[in-house]
Amino acid sequence: MMMTGKARLAGVLGWPVSHSQSPRLHGFWLDQHEIDGAYLPLPVAPEHFASAVRSLIHLGFRGANVTVPHKEAAFRLCQEQGNTLTARARHVGSVNTLVFDADGHLHGDTTDGFGFVENLRAGAPGWQAGTGPALILGAGGAARSVIAALLEAGCPDVILTNRSRDRAEALAADLGGPIRVVDWDQRGPACAGIALLVNTTSLGMTGQPPLEMDLSALPQSALVTDIVYAPLETALLAAARLRGNVVVDGLGMLLHQARPGFEAWFGVAPAVTEALRTHIISGK
Ligand code: ATR
Repeated sequence: MMMTGKARLAGVLGWPVSHSQSPRLHGFWLDQHEIDGAYLPLPVAPEHFASAVRSLIHLGFRGANVTVPHKEAAFRLCQEQGNTLTARARHVGSVNTLVFDADGHLHGDTTDGFGFVENLRAGAPGWQAGTGPALILGAGGAARSVIAALLEAGCPDVILTNRSRDRAEALAADLGGPIRVVDWDQRGPACAGIALLVNTTSLGMTGQPPLEMDLSALPQSALVTDIVYAPLETALLAAARLRGNVVVDGLGMLLHQARPGFEAWFGVAPAVTEALRTHIISGK
């Protein structure tokens, strides 16, 4: 795709950023829609984050994604006078999508939870968060976004378990709402009666230890998903599928979380398609 002097610019700020799939993802949509624009990887060290954002505004960028380790710093920038945050970004306390307006103000959003819920809606048509309790494994940044989105979507009861129980307690207190913490070694029995099981830990990812989980109490009606997407079919998803559960892999969360930013910067609402999935998988 050729660019003109009017090209719309966006990118992803991270440190490091070389592993990010976002340039390939947005690049696919830019080509698909023949948009005069570009989406760049932007490696920025933590101490330069605020000045880098300022520079992008001066360079005429439309906005940017923000990834590790800048999501909290982006949130703090958006708390400054004249800038804004979406309700979900305020609830979660981090920002992964920045939109710059014509006055140089920042508008911050967090779209990981949106991506998570949209992935379930697309992968398990008819799924509703309100159906029953959700068991969440892990209490890191990913769990924070997932739980906030599930509560917002009407999940009546979140059961949270994490290796370090104090981290789960802190997250539950911070987010508020119907969240119950159980011990990590109770994760098997805690499956009884749930409607949704989510792994938000890094366990099961290529190169990480496996997730050991007794699924004998898991209802067959429960939907099972993993935010790990390398491998696409984790041992958890394979075991749940064998038991007859509907499973949704984690790649779609990455793809769907990118939609709001793309639409804001480039003016087209992009779609998550099989062709996009294949494109991202083939590049790994
Ligand atoms: P992210 O922001 O991607 O969620 P994170 O904040 O590093 O990443 O969280 C990783 C999650 O995986 C945590 O819930 C972590 O548990 P702890 O809070 O106890 O560290 C979990 N995790 C990582 N390795 C684990 C292991 N070997 N056993 C159990 N849980 C593990």
